[in-house]
Amino acid sequence: MRRFDTCEMKILTVVGARPNFAKAAPIIAAITAHNEGLLVESTDRSEHRVETIRHILVHTGQHYDEFMSGSFFSDLNLPKPDIHLGIGSGSHAVQTAEIMKKFEQVLLAEKPDVVVLVGDVNSTLACALVASKISFDSIGSRPAIVHVEAGLRSFDRSMPEEINRILTDHVSDVLFVTEESGVHNLRNEGVSLDKIHFVGNTMIDSLLNFKEKAEESTILEKLALLRQMGKNGEAKSVTQYALLTLHRPSNVDRPDVFRNILAGLEELSTDCPVVFPVHPRTRRRITEFGLESRLGATAGEDSECARSSGNCGRGIILIDPLGYLDFLCLMKHATLVVTDSGGIQEETTILGIPCVTVRENTERPVTVESGTNTIAGTKPDTIRDAICRQMSRKRNDSVPKYWDGQAAARIVHFLVHWHNAKLSLRPSFIPPAVSLEDRCTCR
Ligand code: UD1
Repeated sequence: MRRFDTCEMKILTVVGARPNFAKAAPIIAAITAHNEGLLVESTDRSEHRVETIRHILVHTGQHYDEFMSGSFFSDLNLPKPDIHLGIGSGSHAVQTAEIMKKFEQVLLAEKPDVVVLVGDVNSTLACALVASKISFDSIGSRPAIVHVEAGLRSFDRSMPEEINRILTDHVSDVLFVTEESGVHNLRNEGVSLDKIHFVGNTMIDSLLNFKEKAEESTILEKLALLRQMGKNGEAKSVTQYALLTLHRPSNVDRPDVFRNILAGLEELSTDCPVVFPVHPRTRRRITEFGLESRLGATAGEDSECARSSGNCGRGIILIDPLGYLDFLCLMKHATLVVTDSGGIQEETTILGIPCVTVRENTERPVTVESGTNTIAGTKPDTIRDAICRQMSRKRNDSVPKYWDGQAAARIVHFLVHWHNAKLSLRPSFIPPAVSLEDRCTCR
C-alpha cells in the first residue's frame, strides 16, 4: 500500500552547520517554485506526476548561536526549521551519536520519500547513516538518500570532512556533483554512473541570488573601509583590505601551525588591513595560545578603530563571525581573501577575487584550474609566495561548468522525474539511465 497518493512526494532536508545553509536554501526555494508551478515545465511523460512536494526542514543544531546559525536563516530567506534537534557542541563521536539517536525518531515519525543531505559536516554523515539503515515496514522500505555536493575529495583522511564525504557518498542513492572532479572520484571508487548527476553548485546559486542584496550591508561602513558611497547605496570606493578566515582544527588547534600562518601574513598586514571574522573555535585558541599580541590587538566592528573616521590602518582586525550577507559584501570588495574554508574557495572563484588557501590540499580543484585560487600550504614562505603570485596574476579566470545559478532547479527537476518513474515502475524500480550530458542539461 502506498503511503501517499501518487501526486505527492515528501522531501526532508537536513541542515546543521554554517556551510549547510547556503547550500540548502536554493533547493528549498526551488521546491517552493515547483509547488507554485514556477519551475520550467518538465517533459516528463510518466503515468504518475508529482504535483506537490511536501517539504520538511530539520536543523540538527550542530551550530546553534546567532552568529553561526540564526542570522543565516533571515539572510537566506530560509523557513523556520520544522524540527530542531538541539544537539549543540561535542566531540565528533558525541555529536554524531546524538544526531543519529534523534534523527532516527524523526525519520520514523515522518517517513519521507527522500532525504536531502548537503555538504560534509558531522550532521550530514550522521543523518546519512541513519537513513541508510532505517526500515519503515516489514519489507525494509527506507527513504532515498540524496547527497548534494558529492564526490569532492581532498585525499586527506586526517580531515573529519573527508571521512564524512566518503561515507555519505557510499550510502547515498543519488549523488549530485558540483564539479567534474567529483564524477571522476566517484567513478574511481566504483560508484555506479547511474547514481552520479553533475548539476552544478547550489552554494553558487545562493551567491548569485544574493550578490546584489549584499550591497545593502553596512559592514564596510562599520569597519571604516568605505571611502565613497555609490548611487543606490552601492559601494563605490573601498579601502584596499584583505579578508581572512581560519577554523580548520589542523590549522588552529596546533600553536606552531597557527603561528606559522600568522607569520606568513605579517607582510600583508603591514600593507593593508586584514579583516578577520573569528570562528568560535579559533577565538578560543587565540586566547589559549596567547596570540592576541601577534594579531595586532584590533578588536571588533564596534572598536575605536572601526568607529574612527579614517580607515582601520594596518594589522589584523578581529571581529565576530558574520552573517551571510555581511560576509558576502566583504568578500566582494576584498583585494584578496586568505582562507582555510572549502566554500570560500568556490565563492571567490565566481566573484573573481584572488584567494590564497592555507592548506596542503583542496577537494575543489576546479577553483585552482579557474585561476582564482592558490594552495599555499601553512609555512610562512609558501604563504607569502602564494599571496604575491595571486596579487600579481593576470586575470583570465574561467567560470566552472554549471555554476550558473540553476543547480537547485536541476536537482528538483531530477527528483520529481525520478519519483515519477519510481511510482510508475514500483515495485522493481530501476533509476533511469541518463547520459551525463543529458543530466547536466535537464532544466
Ligand atoms: C564545522 C564543520 C566544518 C565546517 C565548519 C564551519 C564538521 C566535522 N565540521 O566545524 O566542516 O567548515 O563547521 O563553521 O562538521 N561553536 C559555537 N557556536 C556555534 C557552533 C559552534 O560557539 O554555533 C563552537 C563549539 O563550542 C565548538 C566549536 O565552535 O567547540 C566548533 O564547532 P563544531 O561544530 O564542532 O565544528 P566546526 O569547527 O565549526
